[in-house]
Amino acid sequence: MFDLATATPDCADGGVWLACIDCGQRLAPFDIPVYRCPDCDGLLEARYEQYPTFEEFSGRGVWRYDAALPFESGVSLPEGDTPLHEVPRLESDLDVRSLRVKHEGMNPTGSFKDRGMTLGVRVAEELDVSRLACASTGNTSAALAAYGGRAGLETLVLLPAGKVAAGKVAQAALHGARILEVDGNFDACLDIVSDLAERGEAYLLNSLNPFRLEGQKTIGFEILEAFRDDYGRFPDRIVLPVGNAGNTAALYKAFRELVQSGALAEEEVPMLTGVQAEGAAPMVEAIEEGWDDTERWESVETRATAIRIGNPVNAPKAIPGIRATGGTAVAVSDAEITDAQRSLAAEGVGVEPASAASVAGLRKLRDEGVIESEEDVVCLTTGHLLKDPDAAAAAGSEPEPVPNGTEAVLDHLSG
Ligand code: F0G
Repeated sequence: MFDLATATPDCADGGVWLACIDCGQRLAPFDIPVYRCPDCDGLLEARYEQYPTFEEFSGRGVWRYDAALPFESGVSLPEGDTPLHEVPRLESDLDVRSLRVKHEGMNPTGSFKDRGMTLGVRVAEELDVSRLACASTGNTSAALAAYGGRAGLETLVLLPAGKVAAGKVAQAALHGARILEVDGNFDACLDIVSDLAERGEAYLLNSLNPFRLEGQKTIGFEILEAFRDDYGRFPDRIVLPVGNAGNTAALYKAFRELVQSGALAEEEVPMLTGVQAEGAAPMVEAIEEGWDDTERWESVETRATAIRIGNPVNAPKAIPGIRATGGTAVAVSDAEITDAQRSLAAEGVGVEPASAASVAGLRKLRDEGVIESEEDVVCLTTGHLLKDPDAAAAAGSEPEPVPNGTEAVLDHLSG
């Protein structure tokens, strides 16, 4: 499952090529835009002549990891280098050996999508495309608008009408994307934008695009390096929210590459543990049922709108990752997500609801005894609190109106 070894094919460009994860077909990476295998429709993955070791990483941010990427630089705002927070009260409350929170909300547009977008836009430049597009539950659209705009390219985003948090729509709008609100959910938006891409109308920058995941791999490298620097060992488990399952697939790829180069032992690979909202949990269903892919949920609902997804396109990449690392997947309720959002906020870590799903999932799996108290755990929080101000306000304390005057304020406080 961890094996990536393969001889360099003729189609490689600069030591990089694309391979179909199902039939093994190999494709040139930068001749024309390609998102799926032309033979069998399987997902594509970037492959390299050489895989990285920790010693090769130097510099800052996503591009510190250029030894594991197809290029040495790209449009950068800059992204990466996010904090690995200590959360001492949560750590003792959840009773694990250690708990750290990797806060991806600290990226330039407030989510981990920036890591994929710096790569994706670099590839778009290589392919010389003019219009970039994505379907989005919000964060991808904000990142695409910012990075595409910075590169001087036209950006088009398709959003599920009425189901995207206010901060994200505002970002996409101000960074200059053309926003189309579709009367359907995220999965319908992705169907449409995939059709547009197939017809050559736009370059697709959803996580179906294998290069987006190359950028997101760097989350895995950063976690391993930072955790090792602090504790002298690697974490046992990484718990993360799952929507399209791109991040799960990307982390698994980061670990496979380090195993391939000999930098990481197989038994050191952290257990990938995915968390979904109960109202949108096709990955949890697939893991529980032992399937190799998800079955599409036509109807999905959760307050964590970022992960309101019924057809995770990267499931065939992510499911083997969860299984091979000994991880699992769990569904949590919206109430559990809000509780976790409050617990994180009490430690000073402000996240949007989807992000808090990771901590909610950890709590549930600790309660069920699936995660043990000897474990070193990292929870990934994927987006910033301000992305969804309405959810934050609803979960937080009520403002109290007071009269205009110090005595009245003191009366109110002692009342
Ligand atoms: N957390 C947040 C805050 C997200 O925005 C997303 C996905 C995820 C988790 C799930 O990540 O898809 O890699 O499993 N947001 C996408 C978007 C779908 O359009 O912004 P995944």
